[in-house]
Amino acid sequence: MTARARITGIGRYLPPKVVTNDDLAARIDTSDEWITQRTGIKERRWVEHPTTTSDLALEASTEALESAGVGPGDLDMVVLATLSPDHEFPGTACFLQAKLDVPAGVPAMDVRQQCTGFVYASSVADQFLRTGFARRILVVGAEVHSKGLDVSDEGRDVSVLFGDGAGAVVMEATEVADPSADPHLLSTHLHADGRGAEDLWLPAPGMAYDRFMSHDQVSAGDVYPKMNGRSVYVNAVKRMSEAVVETLEANAAPIEAVDLFVFHQANLRINEAVSERLGIPPEKVFNTIDRFANTTAATIPIGLYEAVQQGALQPGMLVAVAAFGSGFTWGSMLLRW
Ligand code: UT7
Repeated sequence: MTARARITGIGRYLPPKVVTNDDLAARIDTSDEWITQRTGIKERRWVEHPTTTSDLALEASTEALESAGVGPGDLDMVVLATLSPDHEFPGTACFLQAKLDVPAGVPAMDVRQQCTGFVYASSVADQFLRTGFARRILVVGAEVHSKGLDVSDEGRDVSVLFGDGAGAVVMEATEVADPSADPHLLSTHLHADGRGAEDLWLPAPGMAYDRFMSHDQVSAGDVYPKMNGRSVYVNAVKRMSEAVVETLEANAAPIEAVDLFVFHQANLRINEAVSERLGIPPEKVFNTIDRFANTTAATIPIGLYEAVQQGALQPGMLVAVAAFGSGFTWGSMLLRW
């Protein structure tokens, strides 16, 4: 029997500071009505300095390890997805490794796939577990957006969308005797199209310029994320729908067989459009965007965690996950929980 991956522990961490739509409307030209109608977001969590991405990752990872009943010394690998690293280099997985006290020598890598980061990171872990390279991997999605947003009238189209947070799972190699009952990751599917790279990106700093960072770039606001909202929206609906179909077809599973859909949380309207397109009843789609907004690589593990807490996700259920984001990148996976 070949080894498969299985989630044995899950954790999440949201910083305590709640920022409501009204809080933002007090600072910039926006309103609770606009944000709620266009996105479904009511509030988000933002860190307070000196909290960093690896700090959020540490909290989520500690809980995930506890729930798996293992310690940092039991890990064979750390894979961390983020678009908001603590530093340009080394990767945030290394900072997390030190803070969590994962033993020296254990490999730690970053995945830079933005909103699809957790699906990519899970797929990376899945491959290593299937081949026997590792037996137990910590997979993390963590983001601090708030420190890098343009919270001014000019940046309002982007800044109202994002929140800070982290989610983590422990994935272990497992033998699957009965695929219809034994918990495991059935398959992962990854895609990208770099032609959309500049539709959602952070132009500067970067080695594309004469100097990594200039005062002019700071003055021009190039150090803030830029988005073509319409293009992201249209592509997200198309690609996430395709990705769901792909993972179902790969496993010969009819859409009715899926008990719960945990989608990336970019915009409630995107998830409603995907559900409508595929004929998924709204009660099967688990959303957290109203409370936590878009936490990029962290939305999927936070969603899985919240679904478990609320009893929406029970052992034995079939869960379909799909995400889309900057890159463009998109992907899906199917899990027997
Ligand atoms: O993981 C990927 C992350 N990003 C996304 O998923 C974003 C995908 N795109 C979207 O969700 C939508 O495009 C948005 C929610 C960002 C925008 O919704 P929209 O219906 O496409 O609005 P729009 O960009 O066409 O803007 C409509 C109006 C504009 O005013 P005018 O030109 O009609 O006078 C904007 O200036 O809304 C204005 N606007 C705002 N008003 C109040 C843009 N941002 C805001 C804001 N508050 N925060």
